[in-house]
Order: sequence, then C-alpha cells, then structure tokens
Amino acid sequence: MPDLSSKPLLGKTALITGAARRLGRASALALAQAGADVAITFLKSAREARETVVDLSGLGVRSFALRCDVSDEASVKSTMKDVGRELGRIDILVNNAANYETVDFERLTVRQWDAIFASNTRGPFLVAREALKWMRRDRGKGQPAIEARIINMGSLGGLQPWATHAHYGSSKAALHMLTKVMAKALAPEIAVNAVAPGMIDLGEQAAAAFMRRMARQTPMRRNGRADEIADAVLFFATAPQFITGQILVVDGGLGL
Ligand SMILES: NC(=O)c1ccc[n+]([C@@H]2O[C@H](COP(=O)([O-])OP(=O)(O)OC[C@H]3O[C@@H](n4cnc5c(N)ncnc54)[C@H](OP(=O)(O)O)[C@@H]3O)[C@@H](O)[C@H]2O)c1
Repeated sequence: MPDLSSKPLLGKTALITGAARRLGRASALALAQAGADVAITFLKSAREARETVVDLSGLGVRSFALRCDVSDEASVKSTMKDVGRELGRIDILVNNAANYETVDFERLTVRQWDAIFASNTRGPFLVAREALKWMRRDRGKGQPAIEARIINMGSLGGLQPWATHAHYGSSKAALHMLTKVMAKALAPEIAVNAVAPGMIDLGEQAAAAFMRRMARQTPMRRNGRADEIADAVLFFATAPQFITGQILVVDGGLGL
C-alpha cells in the first residue's frame, strides 16, 4: 500500500507552465514527489523540458511536456486540449511561465510593456480560462466533490515599486489582483492563490554580486532557494480548500 501521508497528491493531476528549468522545474518535481502526475509546458527550452520529464518520470508518476506560448490564445487552446485529453482532468494548475526584464522607465517601449503583460498577466488568464473545463470535469457518481487549485506565480515586485521594472511589477500586481478575482469567481470548486517570491538565488554567476547585496538587505541574511518556492507551491496544492485568494510572499522578510 502506498504511504498516503508522504504522497498527499497521489491520484491528482497537475499542469505547470514554463517548467523546463529553474523555479518551474523545482515546483514540478515537488508536485511529482508528492505523487501527482505532472504535465509541463515549455516555450524554447525543449531539451531541458525532455530532461525534466525524465526526472519527473523517475519519481514514478506520469509526465509529459508540450510546447505552449502562453501569450498566444490559439497555442493555449490547442495545448490545453492535448493536456486535458492526456491527463483526463486537471486538479492543480500552476501558472509559472513569465518574463523578467530590467529597463529604465524613460526607455521603456510599448513593445516591451505589451510583451511583459502578454506573458505575465494575459498568459495566466488564458491558461486558467482554458483549463477550467478540465478542472470542473464531472468525476461521475459517487466521486468526491471537485477540489481543484490554481496557483499563480506572482512576485515581490508586484507588491513593492522597483524603479527599473515598471512593466514587470505592474504585470505581477495585475496578476495578484487576478488571483483574488478568480478566487471569488471560481469558488467553491477551485481555490486560487499566488506565491510571490522575493530574491531567489539560482546560482547564476552574472548575478552573484547583486545577490550578495540583496542578501545583506534581507532580514533572514540570505536569498531564497528554489526548493523554498517549490514548498510554497506544494503548500497551496495541498492546503485546505478554504484558503483562497491569498498572496504568499516568500522573501525572507525583504519586503518588510
Ligand atoms: N527567479 C526569481 O527570483 C523570481 C522572483 C520573483 C518572481 N518569480 C516568478 O516565479 C516564476 C518562475 O521564476 P523563474 O525565474 O524560474 O522564471 P523564468 O526562468 O524567467 O521563466 C520561466 C519560464 O517561462 C517560460 N516562458 C516565458 N515566456 C513564455 C511564453 N510566452 N509562453 C510560454 N512560456 C514562456 C520560459 O520557458 P522556455 O525556457 O521554455 O522558453 C521560462 O523557462 C515566474 O513567474 C517569475 O516571474 C521569480
């Protein structure tokens, strides 16, 4: 008999966007470790997506990767159809795919503004809208009531004004609001929450000096790790359905 206490998501299905690498990959692995079958999407990182699927499958769950541009309605629609057919239903959606960019306010172009909003705000909206029918899918007589979850990846930058990230911060602030709107609109079957990471150190050499500076400013005296973000995603994936519309900041106190 499987140990249900260590596999709280056994029998559940999850979709996580932009999860070939970095934080998305870490969250996908955490969901799989907890027993969920996991579909991931990628845009450009096809090789990394294949590797992540191998690692997910190695945890004993069903896993596959599909290419999807979350900013493109047609791409989202066709991907969601394939994901739904393959998984049968979706219990957990993690809207992780996004873009990040540093631009001085005076130099910010309309193209940059629109591109960030297209991936970071319109993307989660489109993916959630298309996932709904697979989340609300009738489970048949005698099956427990639907308890699905959507987890949006927000940002501390959506709560604090970062001068060189007007478009990114605004797109994440909008996503935080979308989280709350969806929590109301999609209740009671679907709980909708967001994880808002602060500075997460993913080991990039180019960012090392910046990371050291940020660690000094952080009450916890260090930056975050990918597994800490994955644990926050896992928390919302397994939390009581009564918890909805919340933005969980995971930043070691940086935003205080
Ligand atoms: N890293 C941090 O410190 C931090 C801090 C605050 C918030 N966050 C948020 O946490 C999430 C994960 O962070 P991360 O740093 O791991 O993200 P990331 O590397 O910047 O992006 C994650 C993935 O998004 C995909 N993506 C970008 N545009 C896309 C589009 N139009 N359609 C589909 N996929 C697209 C990319 O996939 P491909 O590689 O396949 O092209 C990329 O690998 C993001 O939402 C991010 O904003 C991160």
